[in-house]
Amino acid sequence: MKEIKNILVTGAVGQIGSELTLALREKYGAENVIATGRKTEPSKELKESGPFHFIDVNSVESVEEIIKKYDIDTIVHMAAILSAVGEKNPTLAWDVNMNGTLNILNLGVKYEMARVVVPSSIAVWGPGTPAVAPQDVALHPTTMYGVTKVCGEILADYYVKKYNLDSRGLRYPGIISSETLPGGGTTDYAVAIYYEAVKNRQYTCFVREDTRLPMMYMPDCLKATIDLMEAPFENLKRHNDYNVGSMSFTVKDLADSIKKVMPDFTVSYEPDFRQAIADSWPDAVDDSAAREDWGWNPSFDLDSMTKDMLEKLQARHDKGLL
Ligand code: SER
Repeated sequence: MKEIKNILVTGAVGQIGSELTLALREKYGAENVIATGRKTEPSKELKESGPFHFIDVNSVESVEEIIKKYDIDTIVHMAAILSAVGEKNPTLAWDVNMNGTLNILNLGVKYEMARVVVPSSIAVWGPGTPAVAPQDVALHPTTMYGVTKVCGEILADYYVKKYNLDSRGLRYPGIISSETLPGGGTTDYAVAIYYEAVKNRQYTCFVREDTRLPMMYMPDCLKATIDLMEAPFENLKRHNDYNVGSMSFTVKDLADSIKKVMPDFTVSYEPDFRQAIADSWPDAVDDSAAREDWGWNPSFDLDSMTKDMLEKLQARHDKGLL
């Protein structure tokens, strides 16, 4: 297994990319983790903590320039269009998620990379999937985002077999975090609810209160990603489609958890087109393969996440930063 030294993160301005970049800089050295984004300005922290460049994963030249400049041996490919935006613009979702991923995998082969991380999502499943999604089950997504994630997993697995590229990926549940807002996903309500609780004590949710989805807190998401990236290759019985679970709750459970800390918090419900997307995804996932192969074991549950989220957001709100 080749050593990881110089890492390129695509989508580094996004919800997961922004915190993952900082975690990788901590571990691998600030100068060795190159953050990239397409057009959104990076936060001060991201920009000042190490190198940042604008690239477009649909332009091979723009990515290749960075690979050569920094002698990149590992790509963590976080750039993607999420489910809700993807339903508004399916062609854009296909272009960024498929052609962009193909470019990254081809560059991984060309530059004999040590590792390419290509994340996937609970969006690979569709209606009719068992409530607890098994590791191996038919994948029939009904969103363009899901279609591209299924194709991306199979494509990356093909590169492992055909070119011996060490590509790895995991199916993220909805990710909840306090630093960077998610952009254009269906699970975004589980983040927005905390921000609105702190700011207004009220949230109007775009899915019904009985909507149940698999979710994970950011510290566990960072741990899962880095642990899989660093796991010995010979331990991996699969490559780009590991289920990772952590929690599963309804919006009502989430609101009740917040109410334990903030008794005056209220939620109302105005479901929109994202309800159908949420309904097409399973309630929870069976992640025994990840537990067995690379020791996956999450730390946070709903109430410990709520406590941490509210403390962090309240502190920023008190300083006028929210
Ligand atoms: N968070 C994503 C979305 O809602 C799912 O992976 O689109």
